[in-house]
Amino acid sequence: MPAEKLYAKELAALREADKDARPAGWQLSPKAVLTYITGGKAGDAIITPKYIGNKRLVEMAIATLLTDRALLLIGEPGTAKSWLSENLTAAIHGDSSKVIQGTAGTTEEHVRYSWNYALLLAQGPTEQALIRSPIFRAMECGGIARFEEISRCASEVQDALISILSEKAIAIPELNREMAAERGFSIIGTANTRDRGVNEMSAALKRRFNIIVLPAPSSLEMEIDIVRRRVGEISASYQLRASQPDEETVRKVVTIFRELRSGLTLDGKEKVKAPTGVISTAEAISLLTGSMALAGSFGDGKVSDEDVAAGLQGAIVKDEEKDQAAWKEYLENVMKKRGASWRSLYGACSEING
Ligand SMILES: Nc1ncnc2c1ncn2[C@@H]1O[C@H](COP(=O)(O)OP(=O)(O)O)[C@@H](O)[C@H]1O
Ligand SMILES: [Mg+2]
Repeated sequence: MPAEKLYAKELAALREADKDARPAGWQLSPKAVLTYITGGKAGDAIITPKYIGNKRLVEMAIATLLTDRALLLIGEPGTAKSWLSENLTAAIHGDSSKVIQGTAGTTEEHVRYSWNYALLLAQGPTEQALIRSPIFRAMECGGIARFEEISRCASEVQDALISILSEKAIAIPELNREMAAERGFSIIGTANTRDRGVNEMSAALKRRFNIIVLPAPSSLEMEIDIVRRRVGEISASYQLRASQPDEETVRKVVTIFRELRSGLTLDGKEKVKAPTGVISTAEAISLLTGSMALAGSFGDGKVSDEDVAAGLQGAIVKDEEKDQAAWKEYLENVMKKRGASWRSLYGACSEING
């Protein structure tokens, strides 16, 4: 469900309580957008935090969208780039669905416009035959378009984006007209730092964006907080017939993830081998919602160590040979030695990993 639907009540409460001026094309004032993203109150209504982390980063993101520069969120996979982009768009523009998914196959037409070929053949180029891209539609109404994984696109596509961002208009020579963007138009892009090298973004394109780097959660407690909240929200929307994993389980999963991610135990005493894949906060969230689905469908509705072990195996062992060995090493050298409270999870993990 898109964020504007999921949080429709919160957005309505914010609109109602919003006393500050709204910039052209915006549904909320910048301060109300900030409250929507970072949490707080609107009148009597409680606004849940969507992005948990450095508030200053969110302020900078919102401020960027007030200028004529576009916003580019970059970072490791699973650092909430897409989630923040969707929620900013929902709060500011009210429609987060104008999205282009960047891939190696994305074409210039996806970025500008294309044609309904049946109509084009029958009538020639007409307004009716014009198929507007999400960016085109955002420009027409002064809204925000999202561009996911920009850096995966070929350079012609990135060039098309440069001209759109610098001219704030799209020429349609076939119709002999130009479509100029309404005020309020902007783009929020995302790009993974892991993708670098695939298609290095051109310097010219980078200059049109304000780049904000979203970091992995800085502390264990913060990451536990993010995971607990999101598992609660996501599992509620799936209606899984299982109870939330207890605090202890979440703490263990996040601890394992942080140690494997950093290559070091939390106490800093022991090196551990990092797996080949990404073990992000987002992976921890889907691991635990997956465990709840297992527990609700095939268990007694309470997340067991076997459920978590199955999820850990899937999240960590992506490349069979290397990751299996790294995970085994972690199990033997770190987890096994942690004593009684970890024994049952250790046992379940060892059994699956073989
Ligand atoms: N700092 C954070 N605050 C809130 N949610 C987060 C945070 N980091 C990760 N998440 C959660 O992780 C999930 C996936 O994030 P996503 O936006 O898909 O990552 P990315 O696009 O960076 O790869 C989302 O459900 C999001 O809520
Ligand atoms: Mg993403």
